[in-house]
Amino acid sequence: MEITLENYEKLKQEINYHNYQYHVNDAPLISDAEFDHLLIELREMEAVHPEWVSPDSPTMRAGSVTSEKFAKVPHPAPVLSLANAFNKNDVRAWFDRQIKTDPQLETCAFMLEPKIDGLTIVLRYENGILVQGVTRGDGIIGEDVTANVRTIKSIPLRIPVNKTEISVPRVLVVRGEVFMFNSDFEKLNEELIAKGEKTWLNPRNTAAGSLRQQNSDITAKRPLSIYIYQILYHEGGTVPPTQHDRLEYLRELGFPVSNESRYYNNFGAMLEGLDRWTEVRETIDFDIDGVVIKIDDLPRAEALGFVGKDPRGQIALKFPAREVTTILENIGVNVGRTGVLTPFAMFEPVVCGGVTVSKATLHNFDFIRDRDIRIGDRVLIKRAGDVIPYVIGPITEARKGDEKAFTAPETCPVCGHKTERLEGEVAVYCVNASCPAQLIRNVEHYASRGAMDITGLGIKVVEQIVNADLVRDVSDLYTLSREALLSLEGFADKKADNLLDAIKTSKKQPLNRLLNALGIRGVGEAMAELLANRFGSVDSIANAEKETLESIEGIGPNIAQAIVDWFDQDSNKTIVERLKHFGLDPRIEIQSRDSQKDLPLYGLNIVATGTLQAYSREGIKALIKENGGKSADSVSKKTDYVVVGDNPGSKAEKAAKLGIPILSEAQLIELINKNQ
Ligand code: IVH
Repeated sequence: MEITLENYEKLKQEINYHNYQYHVNDAPLISDAEFDHLLIELREMEAVHPEWVSPDSPTMRAGSVTSEKFAKVPHPAPVLSLANAFNKNDVRAWFDRQIKTDPQLETCAFMLEPKIDGLTIVLRYENGILVQGVTRGDGIIGEDVTANVRTIKSIPLRIPVNKTEISVPRVLVVRGEVFMFNSDFEKLNEELIAKGEKTWLNPRNTAAGSLRQQNSDITAKRPLSIYIYQILYHEGGTVPPTQHDRLEYLRELGFPVSNESRYYNNFGAMLEGLDRWTEVRETIDFDIDGVVIKIDDLPRAEALGFVGKDPRGQIALKFPAREVTTILENIGVNVGRTGVLTPFAMFEPVVCGGVTVSKATLHNFDFIRDRDIRIGDRVLIKRAGDVIPYVIGPITEARKGDEKAFTAPETCPVCGHKTERLEGEVAVYCVNASCPAQLIRNVEHYASRGAMDITGLGIKVVEQIVNADLVRDVSDLYTLSREALLSLEGFADKKADNLLDAIKTSKKQPLNRLLNALGIRGVGEAMAELLANRFGSVDSIANAEKETLESIEGIGPNIAQAIVDWFDQDSNKTIVERLKHFGLDPRIEIQSRDSQKDLPLYGLNIVATGTLQAYSREGIKALIKENGGKSADSVSKKTDYVVVGDNPGSKAEKAAKLGIPILSEAQLIELINKNQ
C-alpha cells in the first residue's frame, strides 16, 4: 500500500475494526497471521511518518511506557457506588422508599445487570478517540492508567468502531469494570506453574495488580477484559435516556457490554427475574458478586438523588461471598482409608458461601509448601456451590512475622507409624495396615468381590465389627464367633451363620485373590495374578528381593518397593502368619521356564515388517510371544527370522544383507504348527 496519510488512516481503521471483531464480537474475520501482517504494514508507515501516530493507533496498545507514579485526574462527574440489599425483602423495602418520593415510579421498568467483581475504570473519549483511562480512586479523583488501559484489546481506541453513521458526543466518558475471565485466569496460572513462578490468588486480585502496573508491557501480557455499563458524562450530542437503550448504544459504538443484562417492564417481573441469577452465577465464565438493579428511566432515577455516595435509583443485590479471609489457627491431618494423609485448615469461623465454616481442605503437603501457607496467616477461603471449602492461599501482605511454617508429619497422627512418600508422588502415606483409620477400608477391600468375595461383609457390617473391636486386622475375621456377631445390632441367627459360612468359604480362595485382598499398594487384580503366577505362594513373594520383583516385566521400582515394605512390616508379618494358621496358604504351580521351552518358537528372535494379511503388527507380535518367541522391532545379527509382508522397506533389505532367513506369514504359521 502506498504510504499516504489517507491510506494510513484507512489501515488504522481496518485494524481497529478487526480487533473489535476478534475481542468484542468473538467473530474474527481474518486470521491471526493476516492481522499481524496489517500491523506490520502500519508500523512501517509510522516509521516513515512518526508525526502521523495518534492515540488511536493500534500500535499504541503494546505500550512500554514506564512512569514513577500515576498522575491524579479529577473525574468529570462523581464515580458513585451502590447501596446493598441482601434479599428480596430488602429490594422491596428499597423500592417502597423510592415510590414514596415519586409515586409514578410504581409502573417503572428496570434493568438487571451482573455486578462484575472487578475494578471500575473510567474511559474518556474526545472526538471519538480514547484519550484517557482513569481508576475510580475516591470517586472524585482517580489515577491515570491510560497506557495500561490501552493494552486491553476489547477497549476501542476509537468509536464508533464499525457503524460510522452513529454520532458520538464530542466528549464521552464511560465507566466499566475491568476483570479477568475465569478461563483466562486459570490459563495464566497454569503458565506460571509451568515456569515455576508464583501463582495469583484470584481473577480480581490479578486484574487489580495488572491495572496498576508501572510497566504497561506487563499489563499487555495479562488477559484483561472489560464490560462497560454507564455513561458517566458527555458533552455535545445526546445519549439515550434509559439504561436499556444506553447499553444498546454503547454496544453499537463498539464497546464490550455484557450479554447477561435483562430488561423488565415492571417491579414484579424484575423480582422474579432475580431468580435467574443463581444459575447465571454458576455458568458464566467470570465472577459476579451480585446483581445490580437499575431503574431504567435514568433522569427519573437521578432525580431521586443519593445517600452519601450511593444513588437512590439503583441498588445491588449482593450474593453471599464465596471468597473470604480469616486467620489460619492450625493445620490438622486426616488419615484416609487408603492411608493417604491429607492436611486440612482449622481457622476462625467465617461465613463463606452463605454458611459458617471453620475447616477447609489444604489438598496436600506440596500445596502448603508451594503456596507458602503458614499457621497464623490470614488466608483466603473459597466455597462455591456444593464444593467443599478450600484454602486458596495466604495474604502475604498481612503477615506480622510470627507465622509458623508447616511440614508434612513424619509419623501417622493416628497410629504413630512412620509415614512414607514415594518418589514422584505427591501423597504421603501411612503404610501400617492395622492403623485404625485404615482398618475399615482394609477389611472392606479384603472382603470385596474382586478379592476374597465374602458375601454379607459390606461396609456397614465392617464398620460394626471394627467399631465393636471384634476385628483389629483382617486375620481376626477368622476368629469371629456366632455369639459375638449376635451381639451386634441387626444380627439374627441366619445372618450370623451366613456370614460365618461366607468367611469360612473364603479360605479356599486362590492365591491371586488373597494377594489382591491384602491391600498392598499397587497390587490390584492384574498385578496379583502376575505375582501369583511367578511366585506361587505368599511366602515366596514375602521372601523376594526388590531386585527380583523389579526384574519381572510389568513391575516397576515403586511397586516393588511397596511390596517389600509391606512384607517387612511386623504387623503385616503377623497377619500373614495368622492367616496361614487359619488355613489360608494357597499355592499354585508356577509357570516354569521349562514349560516355555516346549513352545514352538522358544528361543527365536523374530522381526515382522511390511503389511501382513491375517495379522496386524500388534497381532503378529502377540502370536510370536504366545508361542514362546521374542518379537523385536529392528533387525540385527541376533535376529533368527524376518517375517515379510507387502511393501516391506529397509528391514527386509537389512535381513537379506545379513543373510537372515525370510518367512512369509504362511511360513511362520507352518513353523509354529511343525514345532508344536
Ligand atoms: S453501577 C452509579 N453496574 O459495583 C453507578 N456497578 O458496589 C454505580 N459494578 O463501584 C455503579 N458491575 O465497580 C454498576 N453492572 C454494574 C456493575 C457495577 C460491577 C461495581 C462498580 C461499583 C460497585 C458498587
